[in-house]
Amino acid sequence: MEIIILPDAAEVGRVAGAKIASIVAGRPQAVIGLATGSSPQGIYKELARRVQEDSLSFTEARGFALDEYVGIPADHPESYASVITREVVAPLGFEPSRVRVPDGRAADLAAAAKEYDRAIAEAGGIDVQILGIGSNGHIGFNEPTSSFASRTRIKTLAPKTRQDNARFFDSPDQVPTHCMTQGLGTILEARELVLVAQGAGKADAVAAAVEGPLSAFVPGSALQLHEHATVVIDEAAASGLRLSDYYRYTYDNRPDWQRFE
Ligand code: GLP
Repeated sequence: MEIIILPDAAEVGRVAGAKIASIVAGRPQAVIGLATGSSPQGIYKELARRVQEDSLSFTEARGFALDEYVGIPADHPESYASVITREVVAPLGFEPSRVRVPDGRAADLAAAAKEYDRAIAEAGGIDVQILGIGSNGHIGFNEPTSSFASRTRIKTLAPKTRQDNARFFDSPDQVPTHCMTQGLGTILEARELVLVAQGAGKADAVAAAVEGPLSAFVPGSALQLHEHATVVIDEAAASGLRLSDYYRYTYDNRPDWQRFE
């Protein structure tokens, strides 16, 4: 795993954005795994800046969202379908028909989840998956004790996650209780993973995911099984890491072939 520690959240967005941009520049038809939430917003801002200045285009790219709430209308402003349209598809200029979000309103949710994994496979798999991490260690909506082999499926949201996401809704009880999320097994099949985290509230989750034992109790620790995972975090989110000096040294002395900026 490559750990990149940067001074602040703005730098996290800029550098992780540069990483995604380098992948899309090299493969304009790239299939991108799209995360929602606060964490990746800086990435999308950096990518939108490059699109605006005409140095990058997403018109040929495809996108698959990580997850979606179950039981809220697709046109609800906080459905991930709405968030992806507003924060990713529109500013980056994706062709809307080339971006999919799990269908949290399907009559047969289990079948829709299976079909989602099939659609990812049919698109040739995900080239790069953008990830945030929950304060309880979840990635996507794979809550603690999610199997490392799990596929896209329905999950019950942990009380902590509902509490964390209440800020997006008018009141805590409006946060849905269930979701459909790419599984850890699905996520691990992406060719590259880029996880971003900012702030002290993520420090324990980051430390457990990066340096803790592999454990379904910390779904983010699944990244340790991936051969090409990059973790881009600010100082506050890095504050629980034991080997942070080594990660800084490694990044400062990275060979040219590893540079993407
Ligand atoms: C959310 C999402 C995740 C996200 C995580 C962290 O609820 N389902 O994909 O990475 O929890 O959220 P945030 O980035 O808002 O802190």
